[in-house]
Amino acid sequence: MTSVGDPPGESGCVEATQLVMGSALGGQRGNSCGCGVERTARGRSRVCRSGILVGHKPIVPLANLGLVATGSVQDGAVTDHAASRWLCQDDELRLVARFGRDLHGWLDRGARRTAELAERWGVGRLGQPRAGGTSVLVEGRRGSTRVVLKLTPEPALGQAEGAALRHWEPSPHMVSLLAADDSDGALLLTRVEPGDTLAQTGWALPDVIPVLSDLFRPQRIPDGMFPGVEHRVRFLIQLTRSRMERLPATSGVLGIGLDAVQVRAIALARSYEGAPHLVHGDLHPGNVLRGATDGVVAIDPRACVGDPHFDLADWVLGPALPRDIDLRGRADELGRSVPDVDPDRAYAWAIALAPILAYSVAGDPSAEAQQKARELAALWQSR
Ligand SMILES: Nc1ncnc2c1ncn2[C@@H]1O[C@H](COP(=O)(O)OP(=O)(O)OP(=O)(O)O)[C@@H](O)[C@H]1O
Ligand SMILES: [Mg+2]
Repeated sequence: MTSVGDPPGESGCVEATQLVMGSALGGQRGNSCGCGVERTARGRSRVCRSGILVGHKPIVPLANLGLVATGSVQDGAVTDHAASRWLCQDDELRLVARFGRDLHGWLDRGARRTAELAERWGVGRLGQPRAGGTSVLVEGRRGSTRVVLKLTPEPALGQAEGAALRHWEPSPHMVSLLAADDSDGALLLTRVEPGDTLAQTGWALPDVIPVLSDLFRPQRIPDGMFPGVEHRVRFLIQLTRSRMERLPATSGVLGIGLDAVQVRAIALARSYEGAPHLVHGDLHPGNVLRGATDGVVAIDPRACVGDPHFDLADWVLGPALPRDIDLRGRADELGRSVPDVDPDRAYAWAIALAPILAYSVAGDPSAEAQQKARELAALWQSR
């Protein structure tokens, strides 16, 4: 479910990533943070002694990132370690904000590790590396196939992603895993072409039905390899708490007790009596790509086991403001279009997870996002 789906680094610095990205989009520029450090970046996020900057404004205090004691920040820029030559500075900052003080060693090894993997897996014509929220992606070619190398500082994330993609392997609507190295969670994926996300292109419910139908297909789940949906719920609540702490303005706007949200979502997970499925766990429109040949393709799972209706929440809640959406109607449409979907459960998960999406949306300061956050929160409160 939505940007809900960002798992934390072990550092617990998740929220800074959201802040950096959200504020960069929000375009806060031109203020002085008063740290006395000369800053030259124009409109790009940088690090100064006080925190991460967008333009000249500190948007994430370094103390929040656990970076002050690392010595990794000097005189207004990330120190001159090899990492700054592997990734562009914005990408590096995003990952440092996410994974914290231990990341520089990993970044320093990144270019070499990419070259090793490319050689071993027969990948050439490597492109520029670019960072997602939790990984670095490098495009290349293997023969005539376009591929993506995906490396993450947190091996468990890549290992679990690889295991889930293997499980879904026959599906043309899940990205194909070509190779994996479980020692550090590195993955080689088929590149989806053209690969725009549904978040970028806009979407309607029929677009995503093929992915959902695959996720609802009866399946045998390997024992003990993946956590339960309940675990995923707890994780998302923890993530949302950190959002509240770091975005105090939004907690005033929303004012929902997360303990109650957690109790309700866990009760819903436990009430599922159907056959357990492998749940994608992060199936939002940013993680579904448009492909030329096989229609839509899902990427970037945070897989867990249990009620597959969990994956329907974003699709019931839809791309518009809740007031403009017939939520029941959308749940019913999913019930008609996807075999084995229970519309009541689809609807229940949408409501149960609405506050989590609300806090995620509230990170965007635009009036429309703030309105959406309030309406999502009201949905949960009224039911
Ligand atoms: N197989 C692929 N084919 C085409 N594009 C891809 C592929 N995998 C990833 N991408 C692109 O890279 C972006 C980031 O990938 P992904 O979501 O897997 O990484 P992430 O680090 O988990 O990022 P985030 O936390 O931002 O979701 C995707 O939104 C998509 O644009
Ligand atoms: Mg993603």
